[in-house]
Amino acid sequence: MSTMRNITVPADASRLPVTLPRLAEKKRLGEPVVMVTAYDYPSALAVDKAGVDVVLVGDSGAMTVLGYPSTVAVELDELLVLAKAVRRGLTTPFMVADLPFGSYEVSDEQAVTTAFRFIKESGADAVKLEGGGETSVARARAIVNAGIPVMGHVGLTPQTSTALGGYRAQGRTAEAAAEVARQSIALQDAGCFSVVFEAIPSAVAEAVCEKLDILVIGIGAGPAPDGQVLVFHDLLGIREGRGARFVQRYADILDEMVAGVGAYADDVRARRYPGPDHGYSIPDEELATFRKTLADA
Ligand code: KIV
Repeated sequence: MSTMRNITVPADASRLPVTLPRLAEKKRLGEPVVMVTAYDYPSALAVDKAGVDVVLVGDSGAMTVLGYPSTVAVELDELLVLAKAVRRGLTTPFMVADLPFGSYEVSDEQAVTTAFRFIKESGADAVKLEGGGETSVARARAIVNAGIPVMGHVGLTPQTSTALGGYRAQGRTAEAAAEVARQSIALQDAGCFSVVFEAIPSAVAEAVCEKLDILVIGIGAGPAPDGQVLVFHDLLGIREGRGARFVQRYADILDEMVAGVGAYADDVRARRYPGPDHGYSIPDEELATFRKTLADA
């Protein structure tokens, strides 16, 4: 009997699981990192099949799939349900889960407990938290010290958009840009493996990227970051309106969905659906017996 084991060689090496060393290698080689959000099993299947590197179960899911007006109200348990569904649809991408507003700010202990729930219950590889101020940096450090990889997020941080004056670009004065730089460096020093730059001037992003060794993922931060992230529903057009100026739409799926459901509704109303091919049959004699049974009842 042969002692050789059956080894399956992946046809495409890029389909190996994405790990932190692989992400760091991509940065070193200057290969753009592709990140996208997902919130359920079908969106996870789609981004997995498309071969993205990093999948974020963003708290943007509060708005895109749960219908909240902002990301503020979503609860930890709600995002955990989404994260678990996403995990079931992923094979190779690195999965990051967003810590929702109010689930990490109170204390280091709260932050670590929440992060552990995402890692243990949903199978996320890392967590993301917003902000680069004293509190967020301390929480990032505590989570990293507990052995969980952390992605930071600076610039426009939707959880605290009220305090930032709304959904608007950040870092547009020398002082504000310096604050973005300070916060990013503080998150790097706290041990974050990566940081998201959201809605900051491209030139500011470029300058701050030069100061950072960790992976920078941009969204509305120009081409300098090591990778880009977009919200699944924005890039596929599963929403009304066009969204922020940095959104590039690659499909109009909401229109397709409305057209598909509308065509179904038309067919049902016109009795075109279901057709003969959609039904199940029963042998004639069985049907005759059944009809007789009904008649006799
Ligand atoms: O929740 C989210 O989708 C995000 C991305 C915009 C980075 O935080």
